[in-house]
Amino acid sequence: MKLRRAPLEDWMRDFYFDTTVDLGSSGVQCWSLAELRGLLDIRQDDLDAITLDDSPSYGGPALRTALARRFADGDPDRVMATHGSTEAIFLAMNALLEPSDEVVVVDPGYHSLWSIAESIGCRLKRWRLRPEDGFAPDLDALRALVTPATRMVVVNFPNNPTGASLRPEQFEEFLGIVADSGAYLVWDGAFTELTHGTAQLPEPSLLYDRCLSLGTMSKAYGLPGTRVGWCLGAPELLARFLPLRDALTICLSPLTEFIAERAIVHADRLLAIRGPQAARNLARLTAWAEEHADLVSWTPPLGGCTAFPAFHGIEDTEELCRELGRNHDVLLVPGSGFGHRDRVRLGFGGAEAEFTAGLTRLHRTLTDRAATPALSSAARRPEGALPR
Ligand SMILES: Cc1ncc(COP(=O)(O)O)c(C=O)c1O
Repeated sequence: MKLRRAPLEDWMRDFYFDTTVDLGSSGVQCWSLAELRGLLDIRQDDLDAITLDDSPSYGGPALRTALARRFADGDPDRVMATHGSTEAIFLAMNALLEPSDEVVVVDPGYHSLWSIAESIGCRLKRWRLRPEDGFAPDLDALRALVTPATRMVVVNFPNNPTGASLRPEQFEEFLGIVADSGAYLVWDGAFTELTHGTAQLPEPSLLYDRCLSLGTMSKAYGLPGTRVGWCLGAPELLARFLPLRDALTICLSPLTEFIAERAIVHADRLLAIRGPQAARNLARLTAWAEEHADLVSWTPPLGGCTAFPAFHGIEDTEELCRELGRNHDVLLVPGSGFGHRDRVRLGFGGAEAEFTAGLTRLHRTLTDRAATPALSSAARRPEGALPR
């Protein structure tokens, strides 16, 4: 298997840990263990009682039960806990795809949703969300792509990076298009519970038996450090993951499974804080974009914590993002990693003061550039000099 490098991860390696103002991540602000212990009724005794043993292959029973109650009509047999949804994507594709299979994948999208299928040797057909439509999914375009030869359809709604989503009224038609072809559906629902002015979409794995539905602690719950994700689907499909799981990760850690289980049981407590926080940041972003339509063009997101704006006069945003990272301590992600060089992924899930500071620095950098378009790269900080 040949996997290409993911420019998004390269960018994060370079800037995520060396900047303090995060305007680029795709999740809500992360929680500390102290905060979680207060919010989720975790006592010291609970932590002390954990033995760092192996956990069962599909995940510990408490975690599977909590996930099943929240997402899978209470049936734990339809749940496998995974090392982030990253592992779930890898397992689903490697268990179900063969070289030269036809795979229809939403574009733009998170890199592993297409690169794993590509690494297996599949033929990718891209379901393009077009900037001129505000990235709104076009079901006629999907219908034209999906055929009886399609082995898998891969989507992520609400979508990283665009924030676009299927509308609830489109959902049934969407599922019908996939079901008519008999293809597997890999549904990445990383942002299902974070919507803005639109209803949450239904759980597709309960409606279509060839669906594998992925979720994660990393985005709406602000717990990427647990490295816990999950896959929901028919037990016979999940069973096909086992040989790979045995070779790759064997099981999760009982410690992070415990934290994830508490977080799922009390998920609404976490969402009640971080959801409105993201919504307030989105209101700030919306006000800024409306006030500065001379600088920025965008479509407000329907879900998730990211928007995908373009800036007038900037055809390639990499230099802008590098300047923000190196000179202004701000993480902003260039759109090149998602196939749109003229855009940036702008995350609005973070702490509010930090978000406001980031937006101010972005604004200043954009207006400085507009005032001095010929500002030479020599005048900027030289490569390698990373101020803190
Ligand atoms: C849409 C989407 N799916 C999956 C992932 C993988 O996340 P994790 O492995 O942390 O669950 C990400 C991470 O950015 C993502 O944005």
